[in-house]
Amino acid sequence: MTENITIKQISEKDLDEVYSIYRDYVNNNVPLSVVREWFHENPRFFLGCYKKDGDEEKIVGIVFARQQNNELILEAIAVLSSYWRKGIGTKLLRALEDVANTSGIERISAGVASNVKEFYEKNGYRMAGVLKEDEDETVLIMEKNIKK
Ligand SMILES: CC(C)(COP(=O)(O)OP(=O)(O)OC[C@H]1O[C@@H](n2cnc3c(N)ncnc32)[C@H](O)[C@@H]1OP(=O)(O)O)[C@@H](O)C(=O)NCCC(=O)NCCS
Repeated sequence: MTENITIKQISEKDLDEVYSIYRDYVNNNVPLSVVREWFHENPRFFLGCYKKDGDEEKIVGIVFARQQNNELILEAIAVLSSYWRKGIGTKLLRALEDVANTSGIERISAGVASNVKEFYEKNGYRMAGVLKEDEDETVLIMEKNIKK
């Protein structure tokens, strides 16, 4: 099921598909126009996991981030649910870290729901604080230093 997959920079024509995954799995409060702006500022930090399906390619996972000085703020990572627990999320995060490494980034940080803490810990991120805590949800700050 994870045959024929490639991780590469997202092309602009795929932004609608990327946005629909983002809206369904990560955040439905940010408009497409904002995500489009982030993309134009930092296209190299927008990666997709593309799966070949006959002559077509479909996106089964996304990761994207924004640069702030020497830090990357991870805005989204998501994998279509039928592809969970097959290592795709980990591959996407590694690919982003590789691009970050070649761009002088020293740290990646993310605000994450507490139920995905384990995924980040497995990938070498450490909890650096609590961004929000109320009866609806807890959002943690997870960070990884990637300076070589
Ligand atoms: C978080 C997410 C991207 C993980 O993607 P994935 O491809 O399933 O992750 P991987 O297969 O690389 O998982 C690596 C490890 O992380 C941990 N992990 C992943 N998903 C987990 C879960 N739901 N609960 C607990 N641990 C989890 C496991 O230790 C896993 O290793 P294992 O499968 O050998 O046990 C995916 O679950 C997702 O899209 N969730 C919805 C969107 C979201 O919450 N994004 C994060 C906030 S932006």
